[in-house]
Amino acid sequence: MGSVWAIVVAAGSGSRFGGAKQYAPLLGRRVLDWSLDAARSVSDGVVLVVAEGHELDDEPGADVVVVGGRTRSESVRAGLAEVPDGAAVVVVHDAARPLASHGLFRATVDAVMAGADVAVPVAPVVDTVTDEHGTAVDRDGLRIVQTPQAFAADVLRRIHASSPEATDDASLVVAAGGRLRQVGGERWNLKITEADDLVVAEAILGGTQ
Ligand code: CTP
Ligand code: MG
Repeated sequence: MGSVWAIVVAAGSGSRFGGAKQYAPLLGRRVLDWSLDAARSVSDGVVLVVAEGHELDDEPGADVVVVGGRTRSESVRAGLAEVPDGAAVVVVHDAARPLASHGLFRATVDAVMAGADVAVPVAPVVDTVTDEHGTAVDRDGLRIVQTPQAFAADVLRRIHASSPEATDDASLVVAAGGRLRQVGGERWNLKITEADDLVVAEAILGGTQ
């Protein structure tokens, strides 16, 4: 089997957070350092995708630093262009998810090594869900999708060849008929989105150390 590479996307502007949340301090390190470490724990190489102006930053946690694009999908493509041809598995992770564990990375990568085109952590919806008119939507059929998402490298390259747009990559592979494997997501694997989320992440990490 070929090598495993990770792409950590950190080129967003954090508009809902009010700034570049991936550089915010979280228990003495930056949010993205936690994400890079977890990605590194299963990978032979790590590509970090950053916003323009950060490309010369010293990033010892990454093997390659590259400038991303206007959208998340463009940023993933910028990262993918830096992944060596010999990679068999590519795992894509949001820098804004600093609490994803080594075990979660391991589970997604292993599922692809076992034959899936894409492996995705999913969690059940615990809240009642309605549409915009207040009509109930059956939550039993819904899943919340997280990163890390692992892919057979050739499948991810083929999917991105047509420059599609989506908020994640797995949905693109599934829409194209790829073999999906869902693994149990982690309740605490929150995406830092608004400023309060950082307080929650600190509390969770503080409780586990
Ligand atoms: N991301 C990226 N390039 C973009 C947009 C997003 O690399 N053009 C990354 C973010 O840095 C983040 C992940 O994709 O790690 C998930 O995106 P999101 O949580 O939406 O972050 P932002 O786009 O930065 O936040 P917002 O949507 O509030 O502006
Ligand atoms: Mg965004």
